[in-house]
Amino acid sequence: MRAGTSRRGRLAIVLGTMALGGCNHHQSVFAAFGEEAAGINYITLVMVAGGMIVAAGVAGLMIWAVRARPGALSLRGGERLILIAGGLIPALVLAALLVFSLPYMRPRGVAPADLRIDVTGEQFWWRVAYRPSDGTAVVSANEIRIPVGRTVLFRLAGGDVVHSFWIPGLAGKMDMIPGRTNDLPVRATRAGRFRGQCTEFCGLSHALMAFDVVAMPAEAFDRWLAAQRRPAVASADPGAALFLRHGCGGCHAIRGTAATGTIGPDFTHLAQRATIGAGTLPNNEAARLRFLREPAAVKPGARMPAYPQLPETEARAIARYLGTLQ
Ligand code: CUA
Repeated sequence: MRAGTSRRGRLAIVLGTMALGGCNHHQSVFAAFGEEAAGINYITLVMVAGGMIVAAGVAGLMIWAVRARPGALSLRGGERLILIAGGLIPALVLAALLVFSLPYMRPRGVAPADLRIDVTGEQFWWRVAYRPSDGTAVVSANEIRIPVGRTVLFRLAGGDVVHSFWIPGLAGKMDMIPGRTNDLPVRATRAGRFRGQCTEFCGLSHALMAFDVVAMPAEAFDRWLAAQRRPAVASADPGAALFLRHGCGGCHAIRGTAATGTIGPDFTHLAQRATIGAGTLPNNEAARLRFLREPAAVKPGARMPAYPQLPETEARAIARYLGTLQ
């Protein structure tokens, strides 16, 4: 900050930043689009209000103690005050808050018919598999769609190290631990595009491990999931052949083609996603080319190797082809 900025100016900047921060409805605990997050918001509100009442009581007592003349409180009266205000009331307040919050801790019930979505944290992206009760899994990555008004069970795991899955507007966060699964049942209440983020330090690009969450009307979601089952449309694009010839299919799958790798994100319907690199860059040709040319510069620590020997025209063709995978 500039040395000449006045104190009032600095205060305005701090308050302005805080106020504008509240305008972010894309990734905010204060803009709930799920029942679980709304419950958390309500508990927070009650706890903060309760805390303020207790703090006001303590402040009142302090003012009285400073102003009271010596001997205003007898030894017996002082003991009683400490017992009631320092022991009995806090115990009652804490017990009341515990009883109030217990129902919110009970996880939402899940029926066999509910949609399960397996999400696995990888360095530094999200492996996603939709597992509807009626059929085979639909594999995707880095963008998650959910139906509004239906229970969805996220089954979370860590693929390599510990990650943490957090969609602030939908529910609380939950760790993704290698070797075990954690279940997070949720229900979205309104449609929109929101954002989630990894919240456990998992390596160099931890901060670049985000994803979009698209909450859709239930019928639109059903149509979308049915379309996701379909393989990629056969393509005569020269980039399709180059993708295979340069071995990209060893790590990335494009269903319906010879690319069947599972080490990296699935690309079958890549063009539908708003971002690439798990929320790192917008999904356009220039950004795809940049990632392909310099993965380590875009995402430090990512497992994807660089291909300096790949001719520019061919890299460009692959980046263009990936944009056709609707
Ligand atoms: Cu994954 Cu932090």
